[in-house]
Amino acid sequence: MTASLLAHRIGDEWVAQLPGREDRDPYRTHEVVAYVSPATSDHLRAAAAAARAALPAWAATPAPARGEILFRAAALLAERAEAIGRDLVREEGKTIAEAVGETRRAAAIVRYFAGQASEPIGALYASGNRGTRLYTERMPLGVVAVITPWNFPIAIPAWKIAPALAFGNSVLFKPAGPAPLTGNHLVSALVDAGLPAGVLNMVFADGAAVEREWIATGASDAVTFTGSEAVGRRIQATAIGAHAKVQLEMGGKNAVIVAPDADLPRAADLIVRGAMASAGQKCTATSRVITYGGVTAPLREAIGERVRALRAGDPLDPATTLGPLIDVAARDRVAGMVAEAEASGARAIARSDGAAPPTFHPAVVLDGVTPGMRIAREEVFGPVLGLMEAADLDEALRIHNGVAHGLSGSIFTRDLATAEAFVATARVGMVHVNGETAGAEPHVPFGGMGDSSSWSREQGKSAAEFFTQTRTVSVEGLPTLGPFDR
Ligand code: UN1
Repeated sequence: MTASLLAHRIGDEWVAQLPGREDRDPYRTHEVVAYVSPATSDHLRAAAAAARAALPAWAATPAPARGEILFRAAALLAERAEAIGRDLVREEGKTIAEAVGETRRAAAIVRYFAGQASEPIGALYASGNRGTRLYTERMPLGVVAVITPWNFPIAIPAWKIAPALAFGNSVLFKPAGPAPLTGNHLVSALVDAGLPAGVLNMVFADGAAVEREWIATGASDAVTFTGSEAVGRRIQATAIGAHAKVQLEMGGKNAVIVAPDADLPRAADLIVRGAMASAGQKCTATSRVITYGGVTAPLREAIGERVRALRAGDPLDPATTLGPLIDVAARDRVAGMVAEAEASGARAIARSDGAAPPTFHPAVVLDGVTPGMRIAREEVFGPVLGLMEAADLDEALRIHNGVAHGLSGSIFTRDLATAEAFVATARVGMVHVNGETAGAEPHVPFGGMGDSSSWSREQGKSAAEFFTQTRTVSVEGLPTLGPFDR
């Protein structure tokens, strides 16, 4: 396959130059999927200037007309889902079913926000003063910087860019280093749908340059970021220093509690899918399982059986259920964490086999994990599941909440009081009962508690809270007569 040279999108131009950086396939590690134009500070500054220049006309475009462009982009993404999904697999490595599914999800997200552009944008209040009309109105923020991770290279950019645009902001987009081709597909769909020049700009720069040129300088009025905690915290500090609004989505250490009365086959299915889909590279992945009351042995058996049945291999092969990790460094990091857990007393009770490129790590189930171990506290971002045992529900809930992250959690039970105890106490933003920890619907808020996020939520109606600022308008000295006066 020939690899194309990916160009930055700056104003109304695609800007490319040689020599390009290699975007490699994590499975066929010798294959180059695309070449990526190098970015200079000048590209970043030109993009920022283009976004600033395009802002007034875009902010003044009637919101339903902005929505129409997004509807067209959503239709293009849906039409192109198979082809985009294949490219996503080639540069990111998740399975083809997951990649096409993610692209369709991105189309659904863009469609949802296209509709949101026609929703009410304010509220009318009764004023305490006569002859006064008092209302609020949501206004765009201005230029929004969008910094996204490689693990959902189309869904996450879609759920940040679509609302930013729907609510009248212009955008500076930095796709993740390992997934530029997928980012390029999203931008192309929006450009093909008729988005005016400069409203959406994309530069394939590295994080430090983006931080310097787009955030520290105040070129962006707001920054939305999903990625690692270390980078998120740094971006937050820089954004606050530049007086920019900032939103962060970072890691998770998500747990599933399995009660003795749970539907065990269902629990085992959804635990293994939550832990091993996308090779565990999701911030919502299931990382810990907490059992109590005698369910441990049969659940261990059921999970082990499913993990051994995973088919590792080529993610483009529809029969594959476990793909590679993003790169060799990720594989080494995951292997190191597993080795450290084993050295501190955890035991691997199941391992998938097959597939051997240097980026591949088998799915591993570790038994005997205890709350103090690093494997029980830190995000792994790989296909590793830790089993933990508690004395009772109370202790299970304490273990569940005993980590710094607070993104997603689930309980499997048929008992209403047990489910309610979990819902009431789980310190996570995404609470599931009898469900998988991963996954999110576009029309509801998404985000975490604790170290997982920065308080605000993404998607659904929450998107309007981040991507707009509210004005309160008081129009005074109006006639005071009403319909009952004549
Ligand atoms: C999902 O679980 O489908 O980066 C979405 C992540 C999360 C998104 C998860 N921000 O993995």
